[in-house]
Amino acid sequence: MIDLIALFLGLIHFSAPLIYYFYLKRHLTDPWNLSVDLTYKPNLSLLVPTYLEAQLIGDKLDDLMRQDYPRDLMEVVVVDSASGDGTAEEVREWMKVPSGCRVKLVEEGMRRGKAHALNYGLKWVDEAAEVVVITDVDCLWERRALAEVVKYFSDATVGAVTCVKIPKTEGSATVGIEDTYREYYTKVRVAESKIHSTVVFHGELAAFRREALEKVGGFPLDVGADDSHTASLIAMQGFRSICVPEARVTELVPQSWKAYLQWRTRRAQHLIQHFTAILRMARTPEKLARVLAIEAFLHLFNPWLLLTAFVATLSSLMIEQLTQVNTVVIAVFALILLFPTLRRPFITWITEQVTLAYAQARNLVVGKEIIWRKVSK
Ligand code: GDD
Ligand code: MN
Repeated sequence: MIDLIALFLGLIHFSAPLIYYFYLKRHLTDPWNLSVDLTYKPNLSLLVPTYLEAQLIGDKLDDLMRQDYPRDLMEVVVVDSASGDGTAEEVREWMKVPSGCRVKLVEEGMRRGKAHALNYGLKWVDEAAEVVVITDVDCLWERRALAEVVKYFSDATVGAVTCVKIPKTEGSATVGIEDTYREYYTKVRVAESKIHSTVVFHGELAAFRREALEKVGGFPLDVGADDSHTASLIAMQGFRSICVPEARVTELVPQSWKAYLQWRTRRAQHLIQHFTAILRMARTPEKLARVLAIEAFLHLFNPWLLLTAFVATLSSLMIEQLTQVNTVVIAVFALILLFPTLRRPFITWITEQVTLAYAQARNLVVGKEIIWRKVSK
């Protein structure tokens, strides 16, 4: 009997995301149903929050200057939160060489977290800026990324646009895991966007219609996933929040397993906070409500089904010993682990599920970690 319960929970756990995936896959090639004007070039403000980024900030600013977008239509606002490692000095040094672009450095007296810094930076954003773009220091944009994102704002129904991420995993002990994870989620995010909107954004390049951003009160201080939460709040207002595959961004991935798992756990903690907060809200537009319901299920409940199924299988092995059901289940998993093509997606999936469950527990026991420890790459 316990073996059947385990099997039943396991089947729900694995079939729910698979069904969703195959449903989404059919929408991946749908048209956007947007009227995009390729000549649209609004004024932009790029917000770069920095905490302990002295090593990377120079390269990051150089990278922004390589974007295929008119310099006179963009400004950069770097917001540093009392880094103390020379980040601000690096920026000042960088600013001495004229770049043809307006660059401002604003400094917070003390560190209060990324969202707090972004809101502080918003006060210095040029009056003329119609789109506010945020980006992290530890990522590089492909040359066309910004232009590819911004063009979508020519359609007035678009409120927020984000990139797809290419992990830079060379030399990492986790090689393969982050790549498989990204490959899967890129398809999911783009397909959700085609249907209407996605509820998970990438702070490495996330752009917001200024008017919509102001309407939702800027960036949230009580939810770690500032990027996803802001985009979803904007989508709740009826705008579309989309992830576009033409805008590609490379991000650095921690090298050791330990650092990688810490990094993934903290990100998971923040996503869980985001889903919990958004589910409490009333009145979600219909198309968004569907995506939100399934994503919240997959992030909040589904990992526990797997863990319960696992514990039930172990209990069954101890109490009922090898039953027919147990034997088949064990044989199937052994087969999956034997085939390299199945092994990698499987390990990636299990890593994510364990991380999500652990992150939920950590949110409850340790706290939200809205101000997070920097994980070295
Ligand atoms: N000014 C300021 N103040 N900047 C900060 C602070 C802060 O307290 N904390 C972090 N930052 C900056 C970092 O310097 C970096 O440029 C950016 O915020 C992202 O920090 P990372 O340490 O690289 O975090 P991540 O890559 O794991 O974060 C991802 O998840 C976050 C939500 O969990 C990214 O997608 C972030 O954009 C996202 O906010
Ligand atoms: Mn990062």
